Amino acid sequence: MAIMDLKFLVFLIALLLVWETQVQAETKVFNVINYGAVADGSKDNAQAFLDAWNDACQYEGNGRMYIPSGTYQLNHVQFKGPCNGGMEFMIQGTLKAPTDPKLFFVSETWINFQYVSALTIYGGGTLDGQGASAWKDNTCSTNPSCRTLPTALRLDFTNTSQIRDLVSLNSKNVHLTLYGCDNVEISNIKISAPGDSPNTDGIKMAKSKNIRIIHSDIGTGDDCIAMLDGLYDIQISGVTCGPGHGISIGSLADSRDIEDVSRITVRNCRLHDTTNGLRLKTWASPYKGRVFNLTYEDIVMENVQNPIIIDQNYCPHCRCNSTASSHVHISNVRFKNIRGTSSSEYAVTLNCSQARPCTDMRLEDIKLEYKSRGTPALSSCSHARGASYRPLRPLSCL
Ligand SMILES: *[C@@H]1O[C@H](CO)[C@@H](O)[C@H](O)[C@H]1NC(C)=O
Ligand SMILES: *[C@@H]1O[C@H](CO)[C@@H](O)[C@H](O)[C@H]1NC(C)=O
Ligand SMILES: *[C@@H]1O[C@H](CO)[C@@H](O)[C@H](O)[C@H]1NC(C)=O
Ligand SMILES: *[C@@H]1O[C@H](CO)[C@@H](O)[C@H](O)[C@H]1NC(C)=O
Repeated sequence: MAIMDLKFLVFLIALLLVWETQVQAETKVFNVINYGAVADGSKDNAQAFLDAWNDACQYEGNGRMYIPSGTYQLNHVQFKGPCNGGMEFMIQGTLKAPTDPKLFFVSETWINFQYVSALTIYGGGTLDGQGASAWKDNTCSTNPSCRTLPTALRLDFTNTSQIRDLVSLNSKNVHLTLYGCDNVEISNIKISAPGDSPNTDGIKMAKSKNIRIIHSDIGTGDDCIAMLDGLYDIQISGVTCGPGHGISIGSLADSRDIEDVSRITVRNCRLHDTTNGLRLKTWASPYKGRVFNLTYEDIVMENVQNPIIIDQNYCPHCRCNSTASSHVHISNVRFKNIRGTSSSEYAVTLNCSQARPCTDMRLEDIKLEYKSRGTPALSSCSHARGASYRPLRPLSCL
């Protein structure tokens, strides 16, 4: 019997080895240089990249599109699936976005992947959005019919994929957008833009599920992470945010009813020198929706203006009916072990909707200090129902 087991084990190991070598053998490299790409920092490489992608995508095994080190000028590109096998997009070099204003509005995305499965974007390279050339053209804070500057990297309807070991600098708009994605892991990425650059969100997501953002460093001029509607099973952990506007849900319900947002966990993160820490924002509008089952746990705040803030009366530029309040119902939100310093007096603000009060709110083990003139930090609640558990500083308003 023991000998049978041993034979079986040897057989299994052999099988595993054969399988592994096959997997290895199946990876074929498609080097952009062989498709005419030139790393001189000025020639546009869009066509060479698309040609390499098309061949890699048609390959029956694992296709690796390879971008060696060097600086590549790249205009707008759209990489489309479905592909015949797994896809790797391995960037060791630096990709530079256009600085010619004529090219800014060609598409709302600089580098776009659509309908791809089993995609891995990695390699330690850099996406340089060259945003400084375009931020002055962002007139959206004053002009409602403004044109949208491009997002640097966007994945649409892309499943079972990874983005790791990548740097994204100075995007003209959002650095990374996920839309309609399922099962994507983002890890070890660095996103960086100046604290005063307009609308340069780090990671923005909508209509997606099973997304993990881990071990990443984000500093921008807008939200480090922005979560819009139709999201569930989202895990964020080991993220450092600052400068920026914090880790946000919303703004929700500005123009229509929203799809549910639920099962979001933010754990073991550090926010420093941001305007907000953990923020949830819904417009004062008649549009309905639900946000529920959120957990924020083990978060450190350093010099954050609004460490915990729910604002359901959001209405910038007086676009809404001042007597209306949000119709989005927020429930079952837990803040646990949130510590550090607030740069404003109000460390905790739960400003919920009169029409749909927040329910099952839970504050637990909160220790936030207001570091100015020995004044204690304060908390403010309206239309928020729930419970709090010690120790609590500021004293809870729940
Ligand atoms: C990814 O999954 C979504 C639904 O979960 C589906 O609509 C979409 O077609 C899938 N995309 C691919 C490329 O398989
Ligand atoms: C939300 O949380 C409640 C309480 O923990 C649980 O009963 C419910 O099943 C959860 N809902 C979803 C959709 O996960
Ligand atoms: C809460 O919202 C109301 C309505 O917009 C506003 O008047 C009030 O100042 C807000 N409170 C805080 C603490 O933000
Ligand atoms: C503003 O909202 C209130 C309450 O929902 C409603 O009665 C009123 O008609 C609205 N006014 C306008 C101008 O939409």
